[in-house]
Amino acid sequence: MLNIKNINKSFGGVVATNNVSLSFEEGSLSSIIGPNGAGKTTLFNLITGKIKPDSGEILLAGENITNLSPREIVLKGIGRAFQIANIFPTLTVKEALMASLASRLGISEKLFKPFYSKDLQNKSEELLDTLEMNDISDDLCSNISHGDQKVLDIGLALSLEPKVLMLDEPTAGMGPEERWQMVSTIERLWKLKNVTLIFIEHDMDIVFKISQKINVLRYGSLIASGNSSEIKKNKEVIDAYLGEDFESI
Ligand SMILES: Nc1ncnc2c1ncn2[C@@H]1O[C@H](COP(=O)(O)OP(=O)(O)OP(=O)(O)O)[C@@H](O)[C@H]1O
Ligand SMILES: [Mg+2]
Repeated sequence: MLNIKNINKSFGGVVATNNVSLSFEEGSLSSIIGPNGAGKTTLFNLITGKIKPDSGEILLAGENITNLSPREIVLKGIGRAFQIANIFPTLTVKEALMASLASRLGISEKLFKPFYSKDLQNKSEELLDTLEMNDISDDLCSNISHGDQKVLDIGLALSLEPKVLMLDEPTAGMGPEERWQMVSTIERLWKLKNVTLIFIEHDMDIVFKISQKINVLRYGSLIASGNSSEIKKNKEVIDAYLGEDFESI
């Protein structure tokens, strides 16, 4: 579904992405892990077109998307959750979803008019069901919990009907309970929407529990790719990231 071929990106003297080649199977759930500064977010930025590689190619379902604009890449089907729920502080949850849906449908000029189309209403109701957010649909985005804001961010990405959904540290800043709730939401939405899901995560319990494939970056290079048991016993990954005492996981 998504193929990254020999991608390189440097910022001044810093090699953020060093000849990375990676593939993500259609419908799979993969993670990207590695120490701080390993180049994980940079890889996301390259895939979404936010930054352009110095060399290399990114193919989506065989189509070269390397030089497309971020908007074109979104429309091709690569979605990403940003922390955007909180930039809609004066909108309700439902209105924020409607705004995002409307922009996809190309009717953003009607966005703040009091009468929304039936189609837009229906699609937002559907999305609220999908997200299980019906009970907070009329709450202001700024008033809902941090966890709900993160789910709403995913919902805003899903409103664009992506084939590939990318989540950068979806459980960051959450306590243990909220964190596992988020994990089950992610798994549920992944299955329900049939997306190819890629997430960056520092919590190894989560990574090992839900990833079908784990990709490990270090100093911009891919040092390993594999399933949980393969990654857990990979000597280079243990030395570079996991440490010796992670075996208890
Ligand atoms: N826009 C930029 N300008 C200059 N340097 C950058 C830029 N973006 C990233 N870098 C550098 O590239 C390297 C990789 O950064 P990146 O944010 O991709 O790491 P990361 O793996 O996401 O780390 P973290 O786990 O802390 O989020 C770092 O050394 C970072 O300082
Ligand atoms: Mg990062």
